[in-house]
Amino acid sequence: MGSHRIAVMPGDGIGKETIREAMKVLRAAERNAKGAFKLETTELDWNSDYFVKHGRMMPEDGIQVLRGYDAILFGAVGDARVPEHVSVAQTILAMRRGLDQWANIRPARLLAGAPCPLKDKQPGQIDFVVVRENTEGEYADVGGNLFAGTPNEVAVQSAVFTRRGTERILRYGFELCRKRKKQGVGRGKLTSVSKQNAQRHSQVFWHKVFEEVRKDYPDIESGFLYIDAACMDLVRKPEAFDVIVSSNLFGDILTDVAGVVVGGLGIAPSANLNPDKAAPSMFEPVHGSAPDIAGKNLANPLAAVMAGAMMLDFLGEDAAARTMSKAVESVLADPKAPKTKDFGGNASTSEVGDEIAARLG
Ligand code: NAI
Ligand code: MG
Repeated sequence: MGSHRIAVMPGDGIGKETIREAMKVLRAAERNAKGAFKLETTELDWNSDYFVKHGRMMPEDGIQVLRGYDAILFGAVGDARVPEHVSVAQTILAMRRGLDQWANIRPARLLAGAPCPLKDKQPGQIDFVVVRENTEGEYADVGGNLFAGTPNEVAVQSAVFTRRGTERILRYGFELCRKRKKQGVGRGKLTSVSKQNAQRHSQVFWHKVFEEVRKDYPDIESGFLYIDAACMDLVRKPEAFDVIVSSNLFGDILTDVAGVVVGGLGIAPSANLNPDKAAPSMFEPVHGSAPDIAGKNLANPLAAVMAGAMMLDFLGEDAAARTMSKAVESVLADPKAPKTKDFGGNASTSEVGDEIAARLG
């Protein structure tokens, strides 16, 4: 029996409510698997309350502590008492860089019952994955300011593209594309999203590495789109995509568009992977702490539950992960099943979680 050590970090606001439901469903999936695996969880109270007490979001050795786990299930951070750039930098960004979670994976699949803002799109028609470089590129923390507060004020922000970082994310995308094709979910089509016509250093480099790597994958149909055209096509014809690979900033932009076309924040999960498994990977709903609805048991837990399913899949429990996603799909597709307000219902966060758990038996 496989045993997995999970660090559970609900964070702030609705992170606490949606992770509670994700854990409820994960426990049901564990029972459903009848001893095939075991989840050993530790809840960490590293959030804005912790910051108010200790002046930081995590203990000084937080990243070191997290290394002792197989995976991290994270909710969201964000609280009026802590500057936003501080809460995100000291948690999400610290984990991504500190644990070398270099691949950010965001699946976008239109499920029956999910609100789609595009007309005439059928469930199952949209099914693609965005693979975003997660540790360098435009979000590398390199730059500076000069002459602050004077008319000569200057800000410089540099993008950092390494061969190692660029090549590994492109290869990851091609491998994922192959896997999806083999599983019969994808068509074996990869789109590199870049902007080499305007950024002639970093993006020309990205495109050059893409041209090199694609030679190793003759079985995959690959091409590129400029970031602006890609955003347009994600709205115009999202069904044309299978696997998209892009740099940190472009991936950030693409995933918001991708998320909304398949139902929005209520259902969008994300994985921050260390594919080498040299350190734990982190799984999270895309949404933030949503102060406007926090503490009211109104948040949609589906995104956090789907993040939990991605975690099981990465831990090698792919059968349990599939069972868990199927339970979500069956609740979503059932017009009589409870739904939260954002999905047209009037159920609470916990009622939706209970229903999914119940369907897992
Ligand atoms: P948000 O994702 O928290 O909320 C945006 C809007 O979507 C709100 O109206 C909210 O009520 C709604 N919403 C989000 N998740 C929902 C769910 N599961 N069910 C139903 N409705 C949902 O983003 P916002 O408002 O820009 O940021 C709030 C705080 O969260 C800020 O402090 C921000 O820095 C932080 N944040 C943290 C993130 C993270 O921890 N990964 C990501 C995004 C924002
Ligand atoms: Mg974003």
